[in-house]
Amino acid sequence: MARLLARTPPNRVFADVARSYGPVARMNLAGERVHLVSDPELVHELFLTRAREVMKGRGLQATRPLLGNGLLTSEGEFHLRQRRLVQPAFHRSRIESYAAQMVEEGRRHEGRWSDRAQVDMVEEMTALTFAVVGRTLFGTDLTGDARAFGETLEELIEGFGSLSAIGNERLVRMLPRGRALLARVEDLDVVVQRIIDEHRAGIAAGTAPEDLITWMMRARDDESTAYGSAMSDEQLRDEVMTLVLAGHETTAMALSWTWWLLSCHPAADAWLQEELGEVLADGRDPGFADLAALHRTRAVVAESIRLYPPAWIMGRRLLGDVTLGGWHMPSGSIVLASPWILHRDPASWDRATSFVPERWLDGQGRFDESAPGAPRGAWVPFGFGNRRCIGEQFAWTEATLLVAQLSSRWRPELVPGSRVDTRAAITLRPAYGLPMTLHAR
Ligand code: HEM
Repeated sequence: MARLLARTPPNRVFADVARSYGPVARMNLAGERVHLVSDPELVHELFLTRAREVMKGRGLQATRPLLGNGLLTSEGEFHLRQRRLVQPAFHRSRIESYAAQMVEEGRRHEGRWSDRAQVDMVEEMTALTFAVVGRTLFGTDLTGDARAFGETLEELIEGFGSLSAIGNERLVRMLPRGRALLARVEDLDVVVQRIIDEHRAGIAAGTAPEDLITWMMRARDDESTAYGSAMSDEQLRDEVMTLVLAGHETTAMALSWTWWLLSCHPAADAWLQEELGEVLADGRDPGFADLAALHRTRAVVAESIRLYPPAWIMGRRLLGDVTLGGWHMPSGSIVLASPWILHRDPASWDRATSFVPERWLDGQGRFDESAPGAPRGAWVPFGFGNRRCIGEQFAWTEATLLVAQLSSRWRPELVPGSRVDTRAAITLRPAYGLPMTLHAR
């Protein structure tokens, strides 16, 4: 299995395993007992209904030196407390104000584009979503830092991603490669600490920008908890790193795959343009208020995320013995669920592997996540329950607005002959980038 995984993209290997061995497939991977669960009902049962019986899997453990005890990696009461403190920064009213900044960043980014220019869409979307996260997290005056931060973070994602199979933080810290990466983490820590200090001074003086960090600093928990009332600098640092990492790469991949899918499906592109022609009739940029009318745009994004889920796999470790659908799984073993498999299962989806954005509209042409009629557990791009993506609405808003904004003025076309395949690292990436030619509409 390990040899096969080294040769073939793991999302495809796991899909073959699920096809051959059914709803619960057992295997030994890197010295661990692993169960791949591909039946949506069983995934729903374990990851949502019985979530107290599991903790996060080993894949993320190697990223702890980077992410610390942030929302992605923390557990139990500490995680719930952090979740409560971070949540206000993602309130609907906050998303509304981030929406204006997202569109401004989109406009600034497309200012660099020109008709017939060739670009790598993965690089473009990564730079754009990073700028959005940098702006909403750090405030406008820190974009210089944000750029250096972004480049270092990219290296670290690659680096820690390649060490994720080790699954042991102490071992990662001992390896020469791990130590080299940790030195880079320290560079980022200096920047984050400065940003935190500046925000603290800004809050005291009443001049702090209305960004995510300010909101996280203002958040107060019940004084009686063991962790005091506000986040410490260390917790803030961990959440900032986590939000930067979780908040840009995933959305960048969702957007990249969307451009490629639209370029391969001209009829879907024309269908989308009809909506954009009506909603943005005067050629203006979209705004938060337009989201309620951008049904087709959102359907295109949903269909792209269905076929190419950026978070393509989720892992959990069992805290005790579990019997699931008649299968016995011993305490300590790993359970995997893969949106890549669940979203492409013909038992759950009509024309499962085809790009059909219309499936997401109801009889009135309105976007509705239940319109495709997939069973529960079959559509899980943002995870489950209290471990569900805290940035889900942020991501929908960002992806829908940027697709509407950029697609109304540009038609990116894949450079003929380019190879496109998946590379399943921490996120599901285009393996060879996406060389595309930009056509002004
Ligand atoms: C298309 C874009 C995105 C996708 C597909 C996505 C997907 C996911 C998934 C599947 C999880 C759960 C992982 C698990 O249970 O193992 C998750 C968690 C998380 N995501 Fe996202 N995400 C996206 C965008 C964002 C954005 C924009 C942010 C922040 C600005 C964000 C922040 C987080 C955080 C902090 C968690 C951990 C939540 C917790 O455990 O409490 N994500 N995301």
